[in-house]
Amino acid sequence: MKDSDSYIMSILNSRHLNGWPFLYWTIGINAIAVLAYIPTQDLSKPTGILEMIQMTVRITVPFLYMAFVASALYQLWPNFFSRWLLKNRRYVGLGFAASMAWQLLFILMLWVGYWDYYMQEVYNFSSIAFEAPGYLLIFAMSITSFIQVRKKMSKKVWRALHWVCIYFLWFAITLTYYYELADGRDVQIIDYVYFIAGVTVYIVRLSAYLSQRIAQRANQ
Ligand code: HEM
Repeated sequence: MKDSDSYIMSILNSRHLNGWPFLYWTIGINAIAVLAYIPTQDLSKPTGILEMIQMTVRITVPFLYMAFVASALYQLWPNFFSRWLLKNRRYVGLGFAASMAWQLLFILMLWVGYWDYYMQEVYNFSSIAFEAPGYLLIFAMSITSFIQVRKKMSKKVWRALHWVCIYFLWFAITLTYYYELADGRDVQIIDYVYFIAGVTVYIVRLSAYLSQRIAQRANQ
């Protein structure tokens, strides 16, 4: 093994980057980022709150994409990183859920403080129809990721629930960025990055699925 490989392995094996400590670090670093960003915005105006909503989603999206692609990545390219990601997928997913709580907080601030503004300037039925159930699914996934709850469910139901939820969340996010690009107003580089990343993680998942099917057929 090369020196650089064992160095990467020792970093990925560190206690802080695995399991609950990884989740606590994620929550802590997210909180610092959000709290540091607050003074740069005027939260007495709805536009300032919208900026916070946008910022809190942007620091959250990579977690969902990582959880979505973890097993496919390991199947196609087993290496230190994909093994680490698969091992910690649950904590990455919980990091996503914890981070989305910030977005929910700012959404509630907008609703409570500026309902009229929300209804006139922001509300859009088709996007809320996708986004609002998203929180229920995040809650369902988080609760059922705990072993005590998981043990009470059949393996089939648990897998189906997590499959549906993660696909829904991935779709809601990628679609949001698609609409932002299609809309063409105030398009930023990050909109392209997150849209392309969303499509890429799907292609990786699809490739893993297809290669598994081909291998199964060959073995029959
Ligand atoms: C009640 C539920 C929700 C409401 C009312 C809501 C509202 C909003 C608003 C107002 C913005 C635009 C901020 C701006 O650019 O000015 C936004 C952005 C966004 N939301 Fe939500 N949201 C909800 C739930 C969700 C959920 C569950 C997800 C994830 C699955 C999600 C993903 C996104 C994404 C990806 C963006 C784009 C952020 C960017 O521009 O980079 N939202 N949301």
